[in-house]
Amino acid sequence: MSSHRQETVRRLAAPDIAARKGGTPIVCLTAYTAPMAELLDEHCDLLLVGDSVGMVVHGLPNTVGVTLEMMILHGQAVMRAAKRAMVVVDMPFGSYEGSAETAYENAARVMKETGAQAVKVEAGATIVGTIEYLVKRGIPVMGHVGLRPQAVLVDGGFKAKGKAADERQRILEEAKATAEAGAFAVVVEGVAEGLAREITEAISVPTIGIGASAGCDGQILVTDDMLGLFDWTPKFVRRYGDLRGEIARAVAGYAEDVRARRFPGPAEIYFAKAG
Ligand code: KIV
Repeated sequence: MSSHRQETVRRLAAPDIAARKGGTPIVCLTAYTAPMAELLDEHCDLLLVGDSVGMVVHGLPNTVGVTLEMMILHGQAVMRAAKRAMVVVDMPFGSYEGSAETAYENAARVMKETGAQAVKVEAGATIVGTIEYLVKRGIPVMGHVGLRPQAVLVDGGFKAKGKAADERQRILEEAKATAEAGAFAVVVEGVAEGLAREITEAISVPTIGIGASAGCDGQILVTDDMLGLFDWTPKFVRRYGDLRGEIARAVAGYAEDVRARRFPGPAEIYFAKAG
């Protein structure tokens, strides 16, 4: 038997995504669980196991409390179900900022234990050296500039970035430095009109926008937001479904049937063998 198992479906990887610069827009969504990853896989080029899992699934107020163990567990679930899309796992707050060596140890753990194709880091100026360190040692990295959710406590909330000229320039420089450090793509989140297009034109790798306009090489949304699971979503989310209403209707129907003894009915019970 060959030692190289042949996968029946070839999974997209960092070079495939990087090669899509300026081409057909790259379709990305977040995924945290196996059933959702299975549903999204055929439609998406890239699935992000985002640290937004802390807020979406675990009820945390922000992403600061998310741990490496949580990311690994959700990364494993997504990898078991997604067969075609590239899977990227977010490095959580506190797992990569201290030093390039610590970042490498933690990122290598994520790669080994989940089998994902890359990690993502929120790329401030201090992280650029770490991105280069990881890429040189074989770990594909996706950057993330603009609104950086892990900086929410310093910023005092989730606020759009790049409205003032100096901040705009800083974000543009961060995106350039991130790409030059070897990131295969850069998420651009929550930036003022025009900046995403400027970044897209200035860097050689794809930009993936979220709340950043259509001037990007691809788009990403939090899946649960676009499916309509929450009663509030940020301005930049378009709702493509009404999961909240659908779940409420289904659960109300179940509760009514149980209380009226209409569930379970004959079709939903086991019968003893005749004789
Ligand atoms: O954690 C996350 O979901 C993200 C996004 C880019 C949506 O970082």
